[in-house]
Amino acid sequence: MRLYRAKNYEDMSRKAANIISAQVIMKPDCVLGLATGSTPIGTYKQLIEWYDKGDLDFSEVTTVNLDEYKGLPKENDQSYYYFMHENLFNHINLQKGRSFLPDGTEPDSEKACSNYNAVIRQVGGIDLQLLGIGRNGHIGFNEPDDHFSLETHCVDLTPSTIDANKRFFEKEEDVPRQAYTMGIKTIMQAKKVLLVASGEDKAKALYDSFYGPVTPSVPASILQYHKNVYVVADEAALSMIP
Ligand code: F6R
Repeated sequence: MRLYRAKNYEDMSRKAANIISAQVIMKPDCVLGLATGSTPIGTYKQLIEWYDKGDLDFSEVTTVNLDEYKGLPKENDQSYYYFMHENLFNHINLQKGRSFLPDGTEPDSEKACSNYNAVIRQVGGIDLQLLGIGRNGHIGFNEPDDHFSLETHCVDLTPSTIDANKRFFEKEEDVPRQAYTMGIKTIMQAKKVLLVASGEDKAKALYDSFYGPVTPSVPASILQYHKNVYVVADEAALSMIP
């Protein structure tokens, strides 16, 4: 694991955007695995800024997102489809049809998941996977469990994740209870992984993931076995790491 220490959220965002830019410049037709949530918003803003300046070109890039809520229509402003368009896709020259997310509107979980696995295979796998980390060490929606998941699957969200995500909804009851997520095996098959973390509430998850035992009860800890992991975190998130 290579750790990049950032001073604060802005610094973390710029450092993470630099790593993504390097990937796009070195391999213009790369496949980027993307994440939603609050942490990568600044990274996406920075990428848009560099795109606007003419420093980045996404015309040959393909993207696959980690996850999507089951049951939310695409136009719902809390769907990850909506989030990605608002925060990145509408602002860069990604080609139509080159960005993929699990289909949250597909009620048949098996079908939604096997379709998404087929998409990831068809695009040839992931060159760089961007990840945030949950307060309980989750990556994607791979929650603490007694085993590591494999490919895309449907998950029941844990009370801790529902609690963390309720800030985006009017009421807690509105938070979907299930999601489709890329599995741990698929994430581990990405050639490179870039994990971003900001804030004190991520400090324990970050410490447990990279300095504790590898265990499915801390899903991100599996990344200790990945050969190319870049962690970009700010001081608050690194407060438990020597
Ligand atoms: C998002 C995702 C989640 C988030 C994690 C952290 O696609 O898969 O694992 O990365 O919950 O979320 P934030 O960044 O909001 O703290």
